[in-house]
Amino acid sequence: MILGKKSNDYICKCYKLDKSYMKDKIKDGASSFKELQKESKIGTKCSSCKKKNKKRFQKYTDKVNETPA
Ligand code: FES
Repeated sequence: MILGKKSNDYICKCYKLDKSYMKDKIKDGASSFKELQKESKIGTKCSSCKKKNKKRFQKYTDKVNETPA
């Protein structure tokens, strides 16, 4: 969560979460979107971002798994 960002930088405006938040969480071992939701509440307020962020989570997870450690 980074303060001072423009609202269109957020992937979840309700909780002011940005892409790097999600990427960092995946790198830290978040294995499912539900797990991320438990921690950050992403997509649980107005739900308008939920579908998109679920897909985004999958995309980033695939990318992280592709990259050799
Ligand atoms: S924008 Fe993510 S819950 Fe509202």
